[in-house]
Amino acid sequence: MNKGKIVITGGLGFIFSHVTEYFVKKGYEVTVIDNKSVGSHPEIIDDSFKYIDMHIADPEIIDVIMDENPDYVIHAAAISDVDYSIRESYRTLKKNILGNVHIFEACRHLPNLKKFIYVSTDEVYGECEYKKKEDDMIFPKNPYSCSKAVGSLLRITYDNTYEQLKNKTAETRFCNVFGPRQDKRKIMPAIKESIENGYSIPLHNEGTGYREYIYVKNIPPAMELILEKGNQTYNVTLNDGLTVHQLIEKAESVTGKKAITHPNNRPGMDMKYQMDNTRIMELGWKPIYTFEEGLKEYLCEK
Ligand SMILES: NC(=O)c1ccc[n+]([C@@H]2O[C@H](COP(=O)([O-])OP(=O)(O)OC[C@H]3O[C@@H](n4cnc5c(N)ncnc54)[C@H](O)[C@@H]3O)[C@@H](O)[C@H]2O)c1
Repeated sequence: MNKGKIVITGGLGFIFSHVTEYFVKKGYEVTVIDNKSVGSHPEIIDDSFKYIDMHIADPEIIDVIMDENPDYVIHAAAISDVDYSIRESYRTLKKNILGNVHIFEACRHLPNLKKFIYVSTDEVYGECEYKKKEDDMIFPKNPYSCSKAVGSLLRITYDNTYEQLKNKTAETRFCNVFGPRQDKRKIMPAIKESIENGYSIPLHNEGTGYREYIYVKNIPPAMELILEKGNQTYNVTLNDGLTVHQLIEKAESVTGKKAITHPNNRPGMDMKYQMDNTRIMELGWKPIYTFEEGLKEYLCEK
């Protein structure tokens, strides 16, 4: 049964390659728009979905999405590497922000649109002294999170201004996602690489940065739930919070092997991200994997 047509930007990336495959299996007609850049997995391309090789900062993308005329849009394409965004702030801001504007513009011209989900991040809150709620102020403090926060503001703006989008937009703010296909520059693959092959992990700020972690296989069903029922912003976390130091210890105890680190500093780093998940739980989210189950599967299965 065809459950409707969905466009996924960034659908070849770490998280959304899993989402693409999930929606294909669930009977949606999927079109992925992705420029096969860092983090992408072109090896998943097959004839189960349509693939369009395109940059979201190219204004022609507006017409391309309008020609697709989907029922649903998920916008996840973004340069997602914080360290890169600090080195290359102009490029990151230009590509991510312009890309956001194009996708929002396309969505307000789609006659059949039932839902548009903008994929944001916990990083838009900045330093989290307490578990942030979705309506708390956003306070992005690095170029990556700033570019993501612009999309969060655009969502409010477009939902409020354009009658045809009213209550048809939603936003997700994930905590740190980990699992198969994640780019090796991120912390969890670095830990895996260290345990398996002796790679030395660059440890930001002595490993004191505190983040909440969630296994990637919990994300596709959460996206489907929001696609069907959501019309607000949703923090996506199970509140499994650890410092990087504790995360390494946990990985060492799960695998029985040692990781190696060396010191490294990230300027202006937020030391703590934590979020309240009441809203998505009340929407009916039932995660499949606990943090421990995800960690074991990721670190121990080949
Ligand atoms: N990984 C996390 O822990 C995490 C946490 C919170 C939010 N997010 C958000 O989730 C989304 C996916 O994150 P990820 O870690 O899977 O990222 P990723 O870097 O693995 O994948 C990003 C994908 O987007 C594509 N892309 C990037 N820029 C593009 C452009 N200009 N035009 C077309 N395609 C482009 C890449 O080719 C890649 O396939 C991002 O929006 C990110 O901000 C990720």
